[in-house]
Amino acid sequence: MYIPRMAKMKIARADEITDGKTLKFPITRKGRPAEGFLARFQGQLVAYENQCRHLPLSLDFPAGGFFTPDGNHFICQNHNAIYEPLTGLCARGPCEGQSLKPLPIEVINGEVWLIT
Ligand code: FES
Repeated sequence: MYIPRMAKMKIARADEITDGKTLKFPITRKGRPAEGFLARFQGQLVAYENQCRHLPLSLDFPAGGFFTPDGNHFICQNHNAIYEPLTGLCARGPCEGQSLKPLPIEVINGEVWLIT
């Protein structure tokens, strides 16, 4: 029986990511380099692939943050799609109803790890 090996990559110390803060990190998607981002919203840590569901562009492209100015949502800087931070669901915009791709994370001894 084949048992896939789990790999872990340390992303950050959990206390570095306070509410409203984000951190980008490298990932591999289908064997190619890509990017993820870690965020804390209402005390909860979440991580998603940094790719809009409208077009294959980074949410923060060309240069900008992930949160809306009021801090209540993620926003795609390209065409202003609005995403719910805790679920990744696009609540408004050209990709409404679709969701960001979540990345599995785990907090171990105060450190945030990406589980691959
Ligand atoms: S690329 Fe994100 S809303 Fe268009």
